[in-house]
Amino acid sequence: MNDIAASSFFDPQVIADPFDYYRAWMPKSPVVQLSEGMFLVLSYDLCSQATGDVETFSNNFQGTLSGAMAEDSDVAAILAEGWPQVDTLLTADPPTHTRFRKLVNLAFSMKRVAAIEEDMRGVVVDLIEKMAAKGDADFVRDFGIPLPVAMIASQIGMEGDLDRVKHWSDAFVDRLGRMIPKERELECAREVVEFQHYVKAKIDERRANRTDDLLSDLVYAEVDGERPLEDAEILSIMQQLMVAGNETTTSALAGGLLQLIKSPDQMAKAVAAADEGNERAIINLVEEVLRTESPTAGMWRMVLKDAELGGVQIPKGAMVQLRYAAANRDPAKYPDPDRFDIERANARSHLAFGKGIHMCVGNMLSRKEMAVAYSELLTRLTDFRVAEGHTPSWPPNMLLRGLTTLPISFRRRA
Ligand code: HEM
Repeated sequence: MNDIAASSFFDPQVIADPFDYYRAWMPKSPVVQLSEGMFLVLSYDLCSQATGDVETFSNNFQGTLSGAMAEDSDVAAILAEGWPQVDTLLTADPPTHTRFRKLVNLAFSMKRVAAIEEDMRGVVVDLIEKMAAKGDADFVRDFGIPLPVAMIASQIGMEGDLDRVKHWSDAFVDRLGRMIPKERELECAREVVEFQHYVKAKIDERRANRTDDLLSDLVYAEVDGERPLEDAEILSIMQQLMVAGNETTTSALAGGLLQLIKSPDQMAKAVAAADEGNERAIINLVEEVLRTESPTAGMWRMVLKDAELGGVQIPKGAMVQLRYAAANRDPAKYPDPDRFDIERANARSHLAFGKGIHMCVGNMLSRKEMAVAYSELLTRLTDFRVAEGHTPSWPPNMLLRGLTTLPISFRRRA
């Protein structure tokens, strides 16, 4: 195991199943140099340290990563029919980030999440009943995808257009992270513009008539001394909420169910907690799923000045990937880190949502979706199994890790 080469991190097989890599490198070197100007940070303490030093480790990496695509003149011509892409949250540094984050925090409050809990439970129960009526399911397709899509859609007045939300979300993801053919690039650009015009119409509706949802909260958000958000800014935020909130929550929901299936003792404890209505135990289950699954396995930082991390010199201009998934299995923080233990005392300290100023703005929403989902699934269905002949697999992706399919069988509980 110890001879895994640093550069093999890019090997699609390692990206898909990186745990041996973490185990091999963590004790040897918590900061791994992958190539000239590219580093990987593995340990809990060093990932935390880097998230706290935003003057050195910048989130303004968008241009570096996707610049080539934006320069294509055909793509640019299509995008010109919409609104400019503005760096708002994930890819902005202070002071720009601070202003947007303050305004979005107003909209994305615990109050808003609490207000939608009953609707959320209704969506969850409905999805479970549909699966139960069919008798089997692809848990990703039939539950993991539609739940977060429905929840975000309801907050921007898109309830009637769920398929379009997933469609648009996929187009944004393709544009960001994957090597796609020109044909698809053009298609994605058209989707972006279509999304923008769709949401702009919703914004105008809310300016005329305030409604009780997140989009209205954003349109009317105002902090002392800050000007309200402009259309292009709201569009950028909406786009990020859609992209950041869908695939990640899907992966957490599905990965967590698979772990429960693979650990019958933990499944028994989780079922007991759900039956007793033991909310604290269900919340801890959610935290342990997030720790071990870490759907956002890593996130980039751009190094703005010469730095040192864990004794390794990192030059200005380098790209650093904070590997949250590895940090969450750091044995110095989590004894027996690969064990899925829903009673783990410090599960909630994980970095699955990052840390510091960029810590996930949707964390309360996805935590609530997961808690409601597991308590309803475990009280209504039983005997979950992975469908015979299916071996779960994870497609290689540099940043996100999640199942794309999980065929299961189950029974209704008596
Ligand atoms: C299990 C589900 C989720 C996971 C694992 C996750 C993970 C993360 C992580 C690790 C970050 C920090 C990135 C960094 O360090 O630069 C982040 C930021 C963010 N997330 Fe999430 N996320 C999830 C769900 C959501 C949801 C439901 C939404 C919205 C509906 C959302 C919206 C965002 C946004 C807008 C940011 C950028 C915040 C900022 O830069 O201030 N995420 N997320």
